[in-house]
Amino acid sequence: MVWHSLVFRWFSIVCAFLFTGALASEADDEAERRELHLYLKGRYLFQKQCTTCHGTTGRGNGPWAAELTDKPRNFRTGIFKFRTTPYGKLPVTDDLRRTIRSGISGTAMPFFKDFSDDDVDALIVFLQSLSREWDKEELQSEPLSLPEIPAWFGSVEKKQKHAASGAPLFKSTCAACHGEEGNGDGPGAKGLMDVWEHPITPAALSAEHHKSGDRPTDLYRTIATGLNGTPMIGYAEVLTEEQIWDLVAFIQSLPDPGKKDA
Ligand code: HEC
Ligand code: HEC
Repeated sequence: MVWHSLVFRWFSIVCAFLFTGALASEADDEAERRELHLYLKGRYLFQKQCTTCHGTTGRGNGPWAAELTDKPRNFRTGIFKFRTTPYGKLPVTDDLRRTIRSGISGTAMPFFKDFSDDDVDALIVFLQSLSREWDKEELQSEPLSLPEIPAWFGSVEKKQKHAASGAPLFKSTCAACHGEEGNGDGPGAKGLMDVWEHPITPAALSAEHHKSGDRPTDLYRTIATGLNGTPMIGYAEVLTEEQIWDLVAFIQSLPDPGKKDA
């Protein structure tokens, strides 16, 4: 009698083991199939929509690249400017999603509104297959926690006060490259190169539009996280939240020279 129930117990343990094993490998298969689907779809979409600029192998050397001042990204280097992660780290998928959906203002990088969410996910999986950097644990990071916009942005007077406190900070920390009036013509602006060995000029911050968006939160993000591969470092560790918001207020108070002439 005893041996009988023992055998039964062993039998049920073995069954349970086989069963959950089968379930787990089915889930793995499903995930692998999805990954493969995304990769193939992403490769197809990339060949169709991105190679004129980014090149057939993603090296940033498509037929249009020679004509462009802001060169298309070389995805083989695994270095990305537009991120919510600390300076030097890889972007998270939401960062790539934002760039693909919104484009990069003032450059040839278009925005792609007609892609489905699955299309964008597919392009991201394909982009991530183009560089080994994506396998490096030390380059992965959570996004920085970016603060909510302070209430004083809603008041013209208070904003002016904050812009005034941002002015000396801008002069001491940013003007060397961006120029005292924020026109991108500081003494250190000449001869700057990015890591892709293209000449780069500090942004004209007085201009109406900025590459990665015009909202105060967009400017905050760029100042805090920096733009990888360029001399624009991230200031999250150097400046306080309050100081960064003051700089944003200052940048937004700069007169646009383009508009003055018009
Ligand atoms: C007409 C040219 C053009 C086309 C087409 C184009 N791009 Fe771009 N893309 C650019 C340029 C130029 C930049 C670099 C802008 C900069 O560095 O300021 C860029 C930058 C990017 C970036 C930002 C990388 C970073 O550093 O954060 C991503 C992501 C990107 N492109 C994805 C795509 C994808 C995906 C497609 C196709 C669906 C595509 N691009 C099609 C010109 C193009
Ligand atoms: C060593 C030179 C250098 C210094 C110092 C510097 N920047 Fe920059 N900054 C750059 C360059 C170069 C770019 C353009 C990068 C590009 O176009 O890809 C840039 C871009 C930016 C942008 C992005 C504008 C856009 O179009 O989206 C902002 C915002 C900015 N800088 C703010 C600042 C602030 C604020 C400071 C001071 C705390 C500062 N920078 C200090 C070189 C510098």
